[in-house]
Amino acid sequence: MSEQREHWKSKAGFILAAAGSAIGLGNIWKFPYIAGENGGAAFIFIYLICIALIGLPVLIAEVLLGRSTQRNPVGAFKKLSGKPFWIMIGSMGVIAGFVILSFYTVIAGWSIGYIVEALKGSFSQFSDPGISSSYFEELTGNVNWIVGYHTLFSILTMWVVYAGINKGIEQGSKIMMPVLFFLLVLLVIRGITLPGAEKGLAFLWSPDWSKISGQSVLIALGHAFFTISLGMGAMMTYGSYLSEKDNIPSASLQIVFLDTFIALLAGVAIFTAVFAMGQDPASGPGLIFVTLPVVFAKMPGGVIWAVLFFLLLTLAALTSAISLLEVVVAYFVDERKWKRHKAVMVFGFVVFLVGIPSALSFNVMKDVHFFGKTWFDNADYLASNILLPGGGLFISIFVGWIWGFDKVLIDLKKGSESLFTKYPMIIQAWRIFLRYLSPVMIMIVFLHSVGLLESAMHQLRTSWVMISLVCGLLYLFIQSRKK
Ligand code: TRP
Repeated sequence: MSEQREHWKSKAGFILAAAGSAIGLGNIWKFPYIAGENGGAAFIFIYLICIALIGLPVLIAEVLLGRSTQRNPVGAFKKLSGKPFWIMIGSMGVIAGFVILSFYTVIAGWSIGYIVEALKGSFSQFSDPGISSSYFEELTGNVNWIVGYHTLFSILTMWVVYAGINKGIEQGSKIMMPVLFFLLVLLVIRGITLPGAEKGLAFLWSPDWSKISGQSVLIALGHAFFTISLGMGAMMTYGSYLSEKDNIPSASLQIVFLDTFIALLAGVAIFTAVFAMGQDPASGPGLIFVTLPVVFAKMPGGVIWAVLFFLLLTLAALTSAISLLEVVVAYFVDERKWKRHKAVMVFGFVVFLVGIPSALSFNVMKDVHFFGKTWFDNADYLASNILLPGGGLFISIFVGWIWGFDKVLIDLKKGSESLFTKYPMIIQAWRIFLRYLSPVMIMIVFLHSVGLLESAMHQLRTSWVMISLVCGLLYLFIQSRKK
């Protein structure tokens, strides 16, 4: 089986694909608005610390797990441990890929829809956010619009993954990532040359420490995980197509750097324009789909800038969505011996179906609540607050404590000997971060999100589900160690 397994043609191919996975809606849609809501520069500072001290070490661990085993997340844990507990952790990753993709394609679909709206000139009438906001609600309230673009985006994702690692994901990333970068640079230049752009830059670079609370640290850490695609084996799966000559620490550093750099550039492009056009920087999730169209309406040549921006967002989302589908596909190809094409068609379609209630959560199923939330919010909550931190926690524990650090070092050294001889301290630091810092920090985030739920009765029920889940996991873990 491993003989037939495709491998990245070049290290650059891997880095671009992995950076493509990392750079997504998280960077361009989410990062600017959470930074806006949490005090700009001060939040960015904390976020950078989380990325460096926790994100990077966990990324190296994930990529290494993939390369050492040449398997999907389930296969990786099966090969290294074989214990049911760890295999379940791997399965949790595959399920997370499934769940995230199901709602990710919905939002990404809006982005394609917004390219079309921009071309149609719909934004020109947006003189204030009120009009833009009701237009947004009209669009997302339209079942055909939302399901149609969800379908279109799902097909695009399946198309790339169908073509395979080299011809699909690697080739696709090599084209899409430079285009994405180019578009973003254009938008940054447009932003900083607008009169009044300085106010946007000042917002990004001058910290407002008073807005920082425990809550913002948790948001920063949670986002660090999401934005580098950690905690569910996406990077593990991409790592499984690497060969032993590649330097994992250096590749990981480059991926993290690119991801952070793009998020910051997106912040610059968006906030310079938002401030120059006198809009509200803290408008939350609607920043991109409600505030920005108003900004484009007020800007000279706004139609073109709007098209370029939503094209950028679509490309970023596409290179991320393919990595999510690839995790599910790799599992069926490695473990169930399915043909790639069949796995893509079947699971691409199933994920699409599971995404439909997410699309309907903005219209006909708006008032259908499970555990007090819509289907969409539940899917997001389950993935971002439970499956990803849980996965990240156990991946750190596995590589830090269970796998056997001698074996970890032997594998990590392949392709990166010079790092070991020149900077042995870095390896020691990595071990400490992985063993202590990252599990402890993730546990805090996790317990916090459980604790938050205690505020309301119906939410209490959910936390009981989670507490039993955690107890169950711990029990299985202890059992598996005894054998
Ligand atoms: N990192 C992507 C973003 O920033 C989303 C993503 C892709 C992801 N694959 C993932 C998140 C795997 C968590 C796990 O939008």
